[in-house]
Amino acid sequence: MQEKPTLILGIESSCDETAAALVTADKRILAEALSSQTADHKCFGGVVPEIAARAHLLHLEALITTCCAEANVELVNIDAIAATCGPGLIGGVMVGAMMGKALAASLGKPFLAINHLAGHALSPRLVADVVFPYLLLLVSGGHCQLLAVHGANRFQRLGTTIDDAAGEAFDKVAKLLDLGYPGGPAIERAAKNGDAKRFPLPVPMLGRQEAHFSFSGLKTAVRTTIEKLETLQQTDVNDMAASFQHAVVQSLNDRTTRAISICREQGIPITALVVAGGVAANAAIRENLTSLAAVNGLPFTAPPLRLCTDNGAMVAWAGHERLALGLTDALDFAPRPRWPLDPDAEAVRSDVPGRAGVKA
Ligand code: KG4
Ligand code: ZN
Repeated sequence: MQEKPTLILGIESSCDETAAALVTADKRILAEALSSQTADHKCFGGVVPEIAARAHLLHLEALITTCCAEANVELVNIDAIAATCGPGLIGGVMVGAMMGKALAASLGKPFLAINHLAGHALSPRLVADVVFPYLLLLVSGGHCQLLAVHGANRFQRLGTTIDDAAGEAFDKVAKLLDLGYPGGPAIERAAKNGDAKRFPLPVPMLGRQEAHFSFSGLKTAVRTTIEKLETLQQTDVNDMAASFQHAVVQSLNDRTTRAISICREQGIPITALVVAGGVAANAAIRENLTSLAAVNGLPFTAPPLRLCTDNGAMVAWAGHERLALGLTDALDFAPRPRWPLDPDAEAVRSDVPGRAGVKA
């Protein structure tokens, strides 16, 4: 009789999405369930950690039950439990980690403590045959990094942000333009009707030797430019959204090009350019990176949109990758708010030790 492929339950609760998914070792997503807290945080203009933690607690169990029902799977048939254990908002991380540990303990199955960033970083391998090592641009609300992914457990940071993450910049600029939260999709929508040439904005870090990012200066340039306008009409909003998005695209392109050069200088035989994280949902960014990869003779992979933003399937898949390496975790694994993927990477700002994006 043929053996059934290993089945892992993935749990995600590190920010404002509560999510669960059942994924098999042969890359089938049997079920996915997600509860977004966007409405709970909207009136605050950003994620409120305490509200997020309570919402995770409220929804997680039902999401897991829904997944099992959808996949027609009993809890006892799950082979291992993977839960995000950091980095992220610690209250929420603890909710998911505790649920994962409790299930693993009661079912007597292995527990896998997943780094949320590794979840994003490995997610393209769930949908495509991407071979290590590859170059990853990880762009989300809390992170903006360029990493050489050598293996499921070996990440080399080539660049990071010295201030804001790319998604954070989208969210802050959306707030300045009164476009609401979350800002990324709102900016992208407004930009479609705008003129990207109307406001010349600085392209952060253009031409710098290291593959680092910076977005706070760009955000300030947006603020000072709109302060000079007497009123903010819809066309101004659209044009600013387009101009800002254009500057971000140029910066991501320039920094990623630099990282490809660094890989070649260091003899890292990257097989592909991969983008992951919530900002990778942006069509203008994806399009630009697609041609950047082609120019550099690399295949380009991005997960489908629903796997770009936070989700349970990427956590389950990262669990498979770790389980295949025999890397299970003890039930006393401590959830953590900060958890850099590359512990050897140097701090990029001497005044903020180890800072690598607000959540890492
Ligand atoms: O990966 P993610 O869901 O959560 C974090 O781990 O941060 O990313 C959320 C971020 C938010 O900052 C959101 O504004 C941004 O991704 N985002 C976008 C788009 N969709 C989501 N940014 C630009 N364009 C989009 N279409
Ligand atoms: Zn994320």
